[in-house]
Amino acid sequence: MAAIDVDGLSMVYDNGFQALHEVSVSAEAGEFITLLGPSGCGKTTLLRLIAGFLQPTEGTIRLGEEDITGLPPEKRDTAMVFQSYALFPHMTAVGNIQFGLKQQRLPKPEQLDRIEKSLAAVSLEDQRDKRPVALSGGQQQRVALARALAMRPSVVLFDEPLSNLDAKLREQVRFELRALQREFGFTAVYVTHDQAEALAMSDVVYLMNRGRIVQHGPPEAIYRRPNSRFVADFLGVANIFEGRVLSNSGSRYSVSSPFGELDVESDVPPSAEHLYLCWRPEDARLTSSQSGGQNHFDLRVTESVFLGNLTDVFGHPTDAEDTTVRVQLLQHGRVEPGTTISVAIDPANIRFLEPIELAPVGVSA
Ligand SMILES: Nc1ncnc2c1ncn2[C@@H]1O[C@H](COP(=O)(O)OP(=O)(O)O)[C@@H](O)[C@H]1O
Ligand SMILES: [Mg+2]
Repeated sequence: MAAIDVDGLSMVYDNGFQALHEVSVSAEAGEFITLLGPSGCGKTTLLRLIAGFLQPTEGTIRLGEEDITGLPPEKRDTAMVFQSYALFPHMTAVGNIQFGLKQQRLPKPEQLDRIEKSLAAVSLEDQRDKRPVALSGGQQQRVALARALAMRPSVVLFDEPLSNLDAKLREQVRFELRALQREFGFTAVYVTHDQAEALAMSDVVYLMNRGRIVQHGPPEAIYRRPNSRFVADFLGVANIFEGRVLSNSGSRYSVSSPFGELDVESDVPPSAEHLYLCWRPEDARLTSSQSGGQNHFDLRVTESVFLGNLTDVFGHPTDAEDTTVRVQLLQHGRVEPGTTISVAIDPANIRFLEPIELAPVGVSA
């Protein structure tokens, strides 16, 4: 049974702007799902709809078996952790955590018990009597999290909760959040524009663009099998190029490309004869220049950056001077600009993306 089930949700704001177009998202109980996408794509809108701070123009939201679409926020079994933390400045850490429990009129002993447990869960016992102004950003973020945990909601909604923390702390808190989620067993809907965060934390990632879900799946699946240039590019780095499918034998395709004729191995058939394809920089293997053979080409290096664990190399295929390619070589030394290296791409590491929209005849660009 799905813990949360968003079906065909559309949102038109009062000014007529449509922020969401028939968005559907679901999470199993205890699952951690992420809404990932660029700023302005509708992530916060979707989260606020689930929380009940906004009413959708169309669509339904279910929590377990219950249709909660029309319920006010306080009647929903959800809690939200905001990017800004949204703590009450005049209240201590304990006061902030207790606020919602009082509103729910929980018996006092139960309130105190929950406060202790959630303070302990975020390791803030010794900061309990401080007001937000006396706490660091990371500590305020923990208070906000403890406040949500204390409500014991079945769903916690996170709106970019780590974006105000510095990089090192952000990485650490990722792991802690995931551990807390397992311990408390809530379902998480987590919003971020940070692809690394989404890949690191999620069971399932929903990638959004311009108010629509453009692809969803486990992190490995959407990283390895992007279905469009947008996804390939947003989720890491990709070499994207145009190709034309020439022939196939089962799942093995022959494709003409700026790198010459490529073999592509794909369970997913191409969406059109003329389409975009991609491969990831780390999928390139160094070969010896004499080897020739399948999906093999020479690269004239224009720039290279040694990063310790890998070397990032930019260059032009010798047969396609106007195409720029990026390859990442693991545990490799510096590569001098001006030299030529030979690389090969495994057919299974090349992906079909969306069709190329050809301009109508008679219309010039
Ligand atoms: N109250 C509002 N009225 C009109 N447009 C809004 C309102 N709130 C947000 N928007 C617009 O809706 C789009 C999505 O916003 P938002 O959900 O905040 O995106 P994200 O969280 O992904 O950055 C943006 O173009 C934003 O300008
Ligand atoms: Mg937002």
